[in-house]
Amino acid sequence: MAIRWLRSPLLLLGILLPSLVSAAHSFENTAIVRTVELGGALVHVTTTYAIRALESGSQKYTVTLGEKEGQLTSFLEAKLKGKSDPLNVEGHPLDPTEGTYEYTVELPSALSVNGTVNLVLDTVQTHATRPWPASAGQNDGQAMLYESDLFVLSPYKTVTQRIKVRSPSPRIISHNTPEGVSFSTESVATLSGATVTYGPFSNIPESANAEFIAQHQKPVKVRYNYEHPVPEVKSLERTAEISHWGANLNIHNDVVLHNAGPTLKGQFSRIDHQTQVFHQRLAPHILPAIVLHLPPGAHSTYYLDLNGNVSTSRFRPAPSVPKAAQSNKYSVLELRPRYPLMGGWNYTFTFGWDSPLADSAGYDAKTGKYIVGVPLHTHIASSVVDKAKIKIILPEGATDVEVVTPFPPISQERSTVVTYLDTTGRPAFTFHYENLTDKHTGLIYVTYKVPLSAHLQKPKSVAVALLGLFAFALAARRVDFRLNKP
Ligand SMILES: *[C@@H]1O[C@H](CO)[C@@H](O)[C@H](O)[C@H]1NC(C)=O
Ligand SMILES: *[C@@H]1O[C@H](CO)[C@@H](O)[C@H](O)[C@H]1NC(C)=O
Ligand SMILES: *[C@@H]1O[C@H](CO)[C@@H](O)[C@H](O)[C@H]1NC(C)=O
Ligand SMILES: *[C@@H]1O[C@H](CO)[C@@H](O)[C@H](O)[C@H]1NC(C)=O
Repeated sequence: MAIRWLRSPLLLLGILLPSLVSAAHSFENTAIVRTVELGGALVHVTTTYAIRALESGSQKYTVTLGEKEGQLTSFLEAKLKGKSDPLNVEGHPLDPTEGTYEYTVELPSALSVNGTVNLVLDTVQTHATRPWPASAGQNDGQAMLYESDLFVLSPYKTVTQRIKVRSPSPRIISHNTPEGVSFSTESVATLSGATVTYGPFSNIPESANAEFIAQHQKPVKVRYNYEHPVPEVKSLERTAEISHWGANLNIHNDVVLHNAGPTLKGQFSRIDHQTQVFHQRLAPHILPAIVLHLPPGAHSTYYLDLNGNVSTSRFRPAPSVPKAAQSNKYSVLELRPRYPLMGGWNYTFTFGWDSPLADSAGYDAKTGKYIVGVPLHTHIASSVVDKAKIKIILPEGATDVEVVTPFPPISQERSTVVTYLDTTGRPAFTFHYENLTDKHTGLIYVTYKVPLSAHLQKPKSVAVALLGLFAFALAARRVDFRLNKP
């Protein structure tokens, strides 16, 4: 399986040194083209490296991000152009002397001298944009500012390079044109429609080092209209409870949502809002509702906020199917808060659902193990989850538990949860993540055994409780509790 994203600082500090020594001589970039798709909370960046090998047997290609860029990047995947399988990528911690993050991409086969390949790097940046101006009136538009770097860094020489920054709305309000740019023969920045192109820049030397960055790196700034709200989930606490006894998977979510658009200037006016609603021209920074895709087969949905049950939700269920999470069908849950969420406002709420356990569980008769897939998170369109805590509670008595996550968590821990009618408690795993995006949509798989005796534990404890009651009732009939005997 491809390791798609590694961020643990403990990783492989030493292992790669030998391959880095010869790195600068093993490849040349004949062209680098970067396309930045601007958005709200998420910015999707695609960089295509046309690579030529200078040495035979070259198989490990190094991709570099600058310090700030690396910190904003929360998803990274490399593929060969036209192929769908991600390549193995090893991430490395920040190199503090050069100010770079390095990722070692393993090409499917070694190249011989003058062998070429096109590598496509997909990344998602979070928190890379901010509203500018930072506050807006209730009837104003919404403009965002994106800042980044002019040169794509690389430990190899680059023949030609350009960056295209594309706005989702037809209007780019303004962009900067850096001055004193090296390696440039034509114009530094060209605006055409919704796209600003920086470059081309030619014959750039090895740039993944502090010296190049200090001498040549320049900022890029683009301001654009953004026609949608910018929701940001400050915190998500998800609890998934697997119950064999009820054949149920319950997914419960506690959410703190923040509208990261421009903060509201002045007081909220309900009349202005009603007028906008009436004319169906809601200002882009107002978030009236959230639409979520739940697995098919989801039922018994609930939606609460600090004041209790919110009745303004709509649920369109899709029928249950096996392997629900992998199917392309989904149920739709629309949550409409009691009041529209204005820029800078927070909204705390809870929602959840039940689904048939059989839809996300399998049983391997060979190993005697169950396997259950729990969705990592439920993406709110074009939002980022700043901090997520995902807890999976297994059936009581589960043993031989193993977990496989689609993306390595920042940390994880094991605990035991004891609830009603439990005797020994249920094993639980908690995973901590940061900056989850639309690309982090995988499943956390848990495998475990449940011995027959554990299956009987709950009926046993129910039976024991009932027997106790029965025995008490029997005994009580024989004992005279009356105070005044006739
Ligand atoms: C998540 O994003 C924030 C803001 O950009 C950053 O400070 C933090 O380091 C990121 N977390 C991880 C694990 O990358
Ligand atoms: C590689 O290409 C260069 C320039 O195109 C050429 O001079 C050189 O001979 C080639 N090397 C091999 C081994 O083909
Ligand atoms: C909550 O509101 C919904 C209406 O959307 C209603 O169907 C449900 O019964 C309510 N639940 C409770 C516990 O009041
Ligand atoms: C929203 O929550 C964040 C922390 O999550 C806090 O810093 C901010 O002040 C809150 N905003 C409002 C308007 O309460």
